[in-house]
Amino acid sequence: MGAVRAEFSSRLGFLLAASGSAVGLGNIWGFPTQTASNGGAAFLLIYLVMAFSLAYPALMAELIIGRHARANAVTALRSLSDNPLTRFFGGLTGYAGILTAILILSFYSIVAGWMVAHFLSAIFQALGMMSLVDWLTGFSVHRNAIFTLVFMLFTTLIVSGGVRKGIERWSTLLMPLLLVILLLLIAYVFTQEGAMQGLKVYLLPDFSRVIDIQLVIRALGQAFFSLSLGVGTMLIYGSYVSKQENLASLGRSVTLIDIGIAVMAGLLVLPAMYVAQHNGVQIFDAAGKLISEDTLIFTVLPALFEQMGAIGLLISFAFFILMTIAAVTSSISLLEVPVAYVMENHRTTRKHTAFMVGGLVTLISLLITFNFKTLFGLTIQITTRYSEPLIGLLFCVFAGWVWQRNQVLQEIKSGFDNAENSLFWKVWPFYIRYVCPLAILAVFGHSLLS
Ligand code: PFF
Repeated sequence: MGAVRAEFSSRLGFLLAASGSAVGLGNIWGFPTQTASNGGAAFLLIYLVMAFSLAYPALMAELIIGRHARANAVTALRSLSDNPLTRFFGGLTGYAGILTAILILSFYSIVAGWMVAHFLSAIFQALGMMSLVDWLTGFSVHRNAIFTLVFMLFTTLIVSGGVRKGIERWSTLLMPLLLVILLLLIAYVFTQEGAMQGLKVYLLPDFSRVIDIQLVIRALGQAFFSLSLGVGTMLIYGSYVSKQENLASLGRSVTLIDIGIAVMAGLLVLPAMYVAQHNGVQIFDAAGKLISEDTLIFTVLPALFEQMGAIGLLISFAFFILMTIAAVTSSISLLEVPVAYVMENHRTTRKHTAFMVGGLVTLISLLITFNFKTLFGLTIQITTRYSEPLIGLLFCVFAGWVWQRNQVLQEIKSGFDNAENSLFWKVWPFYIRYVCPLAILAVFGHSLLS
């Protein structure tokens, strides 16, 4: 099986696929709205510290385990030791990751479906088909179900194409496009009145918030979700990286791209909110707090686009295409987790597996759609609040405690001759053994209590 295992064709191929996984709705929607409602630059500052000091080391743990084992999460974690007990827990952790990936994808695809509906609505509005526009932007069960289905079909088709011809090809096409659209949107919003006020809120920290423990915990959670950690996506993408590549530098680049895009999305969304306010759209709620989350994306911004007239339609189209692209490249990484497992451990073909697993995820998504009030928030909570941090912690424990230090070094040295004397090797093992597990435990403990 090892000889025919797929690989990304180049360093750039991996970088675009892995940053495609990392850059998602979490960056363009989650990060700016969290920043807006958590003290602006104060949140940004803490987020940067969390991402570099905790999320990057945890990302490296997944990449290194993945490339070493050249296998899916279950097989990979089992292979790290000969002890039957740790092998058993390795397998269990792998399965938990797969289940979490399936559940995250099943709510993520619903949200992604809304983005698709919204960019289509800009087109139909331009054509004057207003009843269709109303249906597309309304919140009916049918609309949600149909667009979840459309989105999952697209995701499944890409994954069924394989590592190079599916995942890498589409990430290589979509990620540069995402960057161009984001830059154009930022440039446009900055020409509008009110933008500078938003920029100030974003970039001037309110230091009274920096010591707030809630803020730190939220920033860590956001950093983990944003880097796609604790599910096994980075492990499986790491398993497709060539032995000639320097993993420490690849991981660093992915982290920088992910943070860079989140920070840039903040440059779009916060100024846009204040432009909206300047144009008379309400951006503070009754309690005087900045409106955030779904209200921001589906009420404040559309209201702003509407006031801009014809150009507003174009901006709206570009904005929701941006969100859709971000969601697609993340969703394919989520689907790849269970698909790789089934393919490798049950020797099925990629095409069949992709459609089978994609179909299963779609069914779960539909179940959530039809029981939206009870299941949607619950699934998000269970996966992002509990499963991701806990499994992320276990990945760190496997890399830091279960796996032999010498073997870890051998893996890192592949493609990085001087690893032994690098700053990375001086700091990372300590982080992965002590700092990351304890910090994640703190977040996990806190979310259990609150
Ligand atoms: N990182 C993605 C985002 O920021 O939207 C979400 C995500 C993708 C989480 C893949 C977990 C995952 F495995």
